[in-house]
Amino acid sequence: MSDSVDSRNDERPIGVVVLGMGSVGTEVVRILTESADDLRERVGAPVVLRGVSVRDVSRPRAVDPALLTDDPAELVVRDDVDLVVELIGGIEPPRQLILSALESGKSVVTANKALMAVHAGELSEAAARNGVDLYFEASVGGAIPVIRPLIQSLAGDSVNRVAGIVNGTTNFILSAMAETGADYDEVLAEAGRLGYAEADPSADVEGYDAAAKAAILASIAFHSRVTADDVYREGITAITAADLAAAAKFDCTVKLLAICERLNDGGAEKISARVYPALIPLEHPLATVNGAFNAVVVESENAGRLMFYGQGAGGAPTASAVMGDLVMAARNRVYRGRGPLESTYASLPVASIDDVPTRYYVSMRVADRPGVLAQVSGAFAEKGVSISAMRQEGAGEDARLIIVTHRAADRAQSETVAALEEMDAVIKVSSVLRLEGTNE
Ligand code: NDP
Ligand code: HSE
Repeated sequence: MSDSVDSRNDERPIGVVVLGMGSVGTEVVRILTESADDLRERVGAPVVLRGVSVRDVSRPRAVDPALLTDDPAELVVRDDVDLVVELIGGIEPPRQLILSALESGKSVVTANKALMAVHAGELSEAAARNGVDLYFEASVGGAIPVIRPLIQSLAGDSVNRVAGIVNGTTNFILSAMAETGADYDEVLAEAGRLGYAEADPSADVEGYDAAAKAAILASIAFHSRVTADDVYREGITAITAADLAAAAKFDCTVKLLAICERLNDGGAEKISARVYPALIPLEHPLATVNGAFNAVVVESENAGRLMFYGQGAGGAPTASAVMGDLVMAARNRVYRGRGPLESTYASLPVASIDDVPTRYYVSMRVADRPGVLAQVSGAFAEKGVSISAMRQEGAGEDARLIIVTHRAADRAQSETVAALEEMDAVIKVSSVLRLEGTNE
């Protein structure tokens, strides 16, 4: 890069500040320091760390103490700063800090999915207005390059579906549950210790983190503005070790999936964006994604199916994606370029989960007496839901009926479950999960 010396290039040092020095920020500061020589060559100008903001400046950190401050608002407007890396998390203060940086002509790199899933529009407009960049590769899939391929590599294609495992914490938990038979809260603490979980782990286990990522992916893939509130969301807190054992009997496992797809609703194009734990067949590529790994499968008109796989969480993997963005933004400063602008021209509406075709897996305790099977199957028929497989386990008090349906509108499926819950013959509907990854 530095070979292409050109009088139009701006080779002055690039001042960088890092807001937040937690799991990810610590690794970004480390790479900035350790790889300074390589970065200078790759960018075409020295990349200089000018400051790091934290809440508690008294804690010892692996950085020159003179760079530490608890006043990020002052850092983001400083004249010797070109690039702001936001790694605090949450909506405020990051939103105000990023706006302030953009308005002051600084490019911004962030890993903050919670913020981007709600305020991407406002922040992108501020970046465009001020002629600077806003990059957020690390906000989805940790180390995995998925945002840049969607925005740039597939810019000439038409994406129909983006689906995958985008939360490392819940995948770590579900994998451990499947392997050891433990319940989710037993393994949650370990995910936190390893630096995967959010500051508030309910963002992970309740599916908010995956829903934020689904909103970001859907917005980019379908050139529309989708926010976290548009995403249907269920988390994994109700999943038990028994569910995973039952799934295994169906040659399936349970994964928290984020699914963004283009639907054709009576000739009108819509987007479905949804997050829920679902059964997937063991032979499906996503079933083999374990631990904190993430994987995203993209299906597009001309490229066909692409799969992106890698470490979806953790300090160093996420810092790798942050650094990639940082180099992009820095090069743009040197070579007077610009990153891609937000693209929302399609403005597709978001479909309600009620109208999305899904398959259900329903497990229930039933009275073991003549006529019960007919009553239960009648409840499905009444809502127009066709049964694909039915199995009875146990007998007497312990009789359990497991039903897997064909595809039908989610509303019809959920109304069937509600009807089952009211039936005398059904003692308890113990588990309801959707089934994904099948061709039916
Ligand atoms: P941490 O909680 O580990 O670190 C947050 C940092 O921000 C800390 O240094 C903290 O200071 C500082 N901070 C917190 N609140 C404030 C505040 N109100 N004002 C100023 N500084 C504050 O977060 P992570 O490093 O895990 O995550 C950072 C971002 O990266 C988040 O947006 C997260 O969603 C995202 N991300 C994280 C991944 C991961 O695997 N951890 C993966 C992908 C994205 P102090 O150190 O003094 O407490
Ligand atoms: N808490 C998130 C996860 C971090 O577990 O996937 C990565 O975005």
